[in-house]
Amino acid sequence: MPQASPLEQEPRPGILPPPLRSFPAAQPLMSKVYDIGILPGDGIGDEVVSEAQKVLDAIQSIYGFQTRREHLPYGAEHYLKTGETMPDAAFDRIRQMHAVLFGAIGDPRIEVGKLEFAIIAGMRHRLDLYVNLRPVKLYHESLCPLKGKKPADIDILFLRENTEDAYAGVYGHTKKGTEHEIALQQMVYTRRGTERIVRHAFELALRRGPKPGRPKPMVTLIDKANAVRAQDLWTRTFAEVARDYPGVDTDHAYIDAACMWMVKNPEWFDVAVTTNLFGDIITDLGAMLIGGMGIAASGNIHPGKVSMFEGIHGSAPKYKGTDKASPLATILSMGLLLDHVGEAEAYQELEATVANLIQTGRIRSLRAGDHRCSEIDTMVRDELLERARQRR
Ligand code: IPM
Ligand code: MN
Repeated sequence: MPQASPLEQEPRPGILPPPLRSFPAAQPLMSKVYDIGILPGDGIGDEVVSEAQKVLDAIQSIYGFQTRREHLPYGAEHYLKTGETMPDAAFDRIRQMHAVLFGAIGDPRIEVGKLEFAIIAGMRHRLDLYVNLRPVKLYHESLCPLKGKKPADIDILFLRENTEDAYAGVYGHTKKGTEHEIALQQMVYTRRGTERIVRHAFELALRRGPKPGRPKPMVTLIDKANAVRAQDLWTRTFAEVARDYPGVDTDHAYIDAACMWMVKNPEWFDVAVTTNLFGDIITDLGAMLIGGMGIAASGNIHPGKVSMFEGIHGSAPKYKGTDKASPLATILSMGLLLDHVGEAEAYQELEATVANLIQTGRIRSLRAGDHRCSEIDTMVRDELLERARQRR
């Protein structure tokens, strides 16, 4: 019998819907302690994760909770030293934790996809982290490459299905290396896998409430069911689930049109739910609308269970150890982690702090090298502590 996850407590506010199972009630007068795995990975992973941990130190001192942090050494160096990608024992450890904060994976010395598959997809699949939550929120118009778009125009919550589709691992080659080679990779969708992410999107939309000027929150289904006919399963499942949510408006866009709308009228979107591969692609486009890879955060979530949080950027090996990468994507991902474990207020305060630093021009740019990684971190920490001091 797998042991119960330590994530058991009453439902809490925040941007995430209530967990499927509830957390144990907090002990009165006792500080809450969360078990967090720290997995920096490769490239800039080390520096962005160590900066995010300093922000975590500040937040826990303000909000009065504690964390027990355990370093997880997996990544390219570990693989080159030991031949091990991510062992079963690591997954067993992680299952006992509340969450994992993850840096990045990818190293030019290692065969393409090997570590990504074992570590990133490994966690997503083996921990069944079926929700990939990717907020696309603009904090200042100067960060958006589109003409005339303001923060009020870009506030989208993408939910990318995170365990199926072309990522299900069903692929192969035959007659490899010959002129008759055939390569196949299956797009796999199950009714259960589709329904749980679609339902989560509706729950989350209800929780967010309507966008200003709209009567109801809205969920857009993004697919390509006109060409990928297997996605008819998504069309039908979405229509059925929608019947349970009369308080939520629905909308549909094919992925090609959705890319067009993202650039032309991003203000149209509210919550958007999509398949794994399309979600991977459109959230990079989304990231560029809010300032790029230096700020785009994500959570790989199984509601109510241990989940993993990472910036959506890669390992950027050329910036490793240069103190040039923006830590904001990892810092905001750590915020999503806090929301997940039940510290919604800490997340909201962290997000407001980052937004304020950008809006007041103290963080001028998110491009690598424009600020030092450690400089942004110091600004976030000082501002958090200063805001807390003013509230007292
Ligand atoms: C992401 C990444 C991964 C993905 C890669 C590294 C396998 O691009 O998290 O978006 O395709 O999911
Ligand atoms: Mn990606």
